[in-house]
Amino acid sequence: MKMWSGRFRQPLNPEFESWQRSFPFDKQLLSEEVAASSAYAAALEKLRILSPAEYKQTVDALHALESDAAKNPAILNDEEAEDVHHFVERELVKRIGEAGYKLHSGRSRNEQIATDLRLFVRAQIDVTVALLAELAQAFVSCAAEAGEAEMPAYTHLQRAEPVLVAHWLLAYVEMFLRDADRLKDCRERLNECPLGSGAIAGSTLPLDRKAMTKQLNFDAPTANSMDATSDRDFAIEFTQVLALLGVHLSRWAEEQIIFCTQEFGFVKLPESFSTGSSAMPQKQNPDLLELVRGKSARLMANSQAMLTNMKGLALAYNKDLQETQIPIFDSAQTATAMLRQSAGYMREVQFDFARMKSAAQAHSMNAFAAATYLARKGVAFRRAHEVVGAAVRLCMDKGCELEALPLEELKSLNPVFEKDFYEAVKLQAVLDCHDVVGGTARERVKSALADTKQRIAKLRGGAVYAHT
Ligand code: ARG
Repeated sequence: MKMWSGRFRQPLNPEFESWQRSFPFDKQLLSEEVAASSAYAAALEKLRILSPAEYKQTVDALHALESDAAKNPAILNDEEAEDVHHFVERELVKRIGEAGYKLHSGRSRNEQIATDLRLFVRAQIDVTVALLAELAQAFVSCAAEAGEAEMPAYTHLQRAEPVLVAHWLLAYVEMFLRDADRLKDCRERLNECPLGSGAIAGSTLPLDRKAMTKQLNFDAPTANSMDATSDRDFAIEFTQVLALLGVHLSRWAEEQIIFCTQEFGFVKLPESFSTGSSAMPQKQNPDLLELVRGKSARLMANSQAMLTNMKGLALAYNKDLQETQIPIFDSAQTATAMLRQSAGYMREVQFDFARMKSAAQAHSMNAFAAATYLARKGVAFRRAHEVVGAAVRLCMDKGCELEALPLEELKSLNPVFEKDFYEAVKLQAVLDCHDVVGGTARERVKSALADTKQRIAKLRGGAVYAHT
């Protein structure tokens, strides 16, 4: 039986009937639907709409349905079910008879889907935060392994200054920790229970909303039934945070792709995460990285689809909202897989530290430090910049580095140059002169690494998986 057929005289157009169904995708909300329905059944029992026996039958049947579906997903191939709510009702009636129809007393699918989606997004946030912690940990392990290895850092993709490899890796960890923070922030805001909001105006039954809220581990009942039944802000925020996470992963992937080219040769691609070419036998392609970069486009598109879907909807529920499920599911699944894959890659990837080091010592990357040397000796930085610029010009003509210029030649540019200049422009000294919080001086990076480890441990400690 349909959930709404009483007032209809004509059957639905068969193609429309199947086209408007959401069960093909919202079947993945079954466990959320069972959890929410169990809480609702308890509220109905309190009102004596369900007898204690009916309540027990209902809840037992709901849980049996969930475990049956886990064991045998074929039972989800129900061509008649319009959506997951209808499916559960049909199964309840199959299992406990007429009493199965009582569960929908005073209830609307509008509040059910709003509740299921909050439960779903909440659980996905917990999973995603845990995966972000894993990924961050994989980066930190690489950073620890890199020790004091050096590399060139780029601005405009031109060699800029040397940094520690660990410093570079920790830059990504900052992004991931912010992503985790944003997810947790979104979780806090979404953690309100819509049950009792009815179709739009609030339930017609005096339900104990606080009890349902508690049973589902929400913090409070939603404050307004019109908002609660039509709000998808939490899902918009979720997909937006994942879109930004996608941007971070995509930047990282792009950089790895550049660094693993023969031209750079900084990164040795793990074979376990690469593929070959059917035509060119010598090739090893960075498919994992390319797919991470490519899939980030889906995360961005999904968040845009959410916004576009919502922008023209008058209050409250509109069937357009059914379409928002697809980007929510897709983003959750896409981001989860990207994080798992990226962490797997980071555990295997190797760096060519020797090559990175020699690149860090070429192309006058110590010029900024050289100008700072003069500034420390009292030369105005603008002047120092000009002097070192002239020295770099000399090096370019000669095909050498600053430290290869004889002292007399340097002195002819500015008499302030002394022998200690050669110490000041050595690689380690150049790193260590960036001795500020957040800088690449070796001691600073050491303490940044320790601090980052602590923040990750805290994040791991706080992860919750269950949605009930
Ligand atoms: N499958 C629907 C959705 O996802 C459930 C809500 C249906 N409500 C309605 N008034 N038709 O949006």
